Amino acid sequence: MSTPSLLILAGDGIGPEVMTEVRKIIDWFGAKRDLAFDVSEDLVGGAAYDVHGVPLADETMAKAQEVDAVLLGAVGGPKYDDLDFSVKPERGLLRLRKEMDLFSNLRPAQCFDALADFSSLKKDVVAGLDIMIVRELTSGIYFGEPRGISVNANGEREGVNTQRYTESEIARVARSAFELAKRRGNKVCSMEKANVMESGILWREVVQKVHDEEYPDVELSHMYADAGGMQLCRWPKQFDVIVTDNLFGDLLSDVAAMLTGSLGMLPSASLGAPMENGRPKALYEPVHGSAPDIAGQGKANPIACILSFAMALRYSFDQGAEADRLEKAVEKVLADGLRTADLMGPEGGSPVSTSAMGDAIVAALDASL
Ligand code: NAD
Ligand code: IPM
Ligand code: MN
Repeated sequence: MSTPSLLILAGDGIGPEVMTEVRKIIDWFGAKRDLAFDVSEDLVGGAAYDVHGVPLADETMAKAQEVDAVLLGAVGGPKYDDLDFSVKPERGLLRLRKEMDLFSNLRPAQCFDALADFSSLKKDVVAGLDIMIVRELTSGIYFGEPRGISVNANGEREGVNTQRYTESEIARVARSAFELAKRRGNKVCSMEKANVMESGILWREVVQKVHDEEYPDVELSHMYADAGGMQLCRWPKQFDVIVTDNLFGDLLSDVAAMLTGSLGMLPSASLGAPMENGRPKALYEPVHGSAPDIAGQGKANPIACILSFAMALRYSFDQGAEADRLEKAVEKVLADGLRTADLMGPEGGSPVSTSAMGDAIVAALDASL
């Protein structure tokens, strides 16, 4: 097989800081596991706007379509708050997701034993937690038309976004959730608001139909998304795979992040349909954003981004055993007591820097050989 290609889009704020640590990990796999990647780098978000006047240049979009996987840091920041909506940093990321057709966004929330005490929830609520949120990523209210801000008949300004889902869009993300569930706890909970939204009624019907016709052996339940948020905090271990729409998935995955201790811990994989080579188009990124409040201070937790690379090893490069190795290395440094600032309790302590955390994970990888 030719050397697999990886496009790195570090982006803004802490994006480049956490990506520097991922580069150490990538280099380690090249040097120590004979797993070399053809890595290229480009700009996205505010960093791209500063150079090109757009948050994603066409050439970068084309490169993203060609590589085996894209690894993204984060986009956005206060410097870009007043830009026209069409060129805001976030639009660059949304364009990547839409044009690569990455409809299935996997957001696992796992609570490492060493952090069980740290969650804002009681230890027995989160200890051993391992759930997977599957967020629809290319449709729904993020992309529905009509949209915009206009002046209505009464001369008043009006902001409009439209929640819109077709049957096939719902069916394909449902399938991806059922497939994952078969390899995990065999349970899917679908979340929408069928009590108030027609798109929710359709969502529930289609998920049920896909289940009955194709996955009758997977346990399926339905829940209103607001109640789902409450249940995630009350007893998250009742869930295995949660499948939900674009907006609810955005909110629920941030809630799930706090079950793991910090937003700095949550990785994600955004996958398309399998291509001819059997692999999906894919983009891997941490769930967190550019964290402007801590950017440039060496405080960012690189683990979410490093675990996103582990997901790339698993889902794009058939390297499940090496993904396990990397996840175990992360577990080990946490068990050894290493903590970035976001993982310190209110009583404080001595946090390590972003780069010290990256170095410790590399050392743990070395120790795994
Ligand atoms: P955020 O995720 O950037 O930050 C929320 C809080 O979590 C902050 O206090 C931050 O310091 C902390 N945090 C986040 N990641 C961390 C890490 N790795 N280590 C330690 N602490 C971490 O969300 P926000 O403040 O709402 O958004 C800031 C900017 O990021 C906005 O422009 C937003 O649009 C953008 N954003 C981008 C993405 C993305 O690129 N995928 C995701 C979310 C938000
Ligand atoms: C995320 C982010 C993005 C989203 C933004 C930055 C476009 O919040 O990936 O969770 O809303 O999807
Ligand atoms: Mn989000």
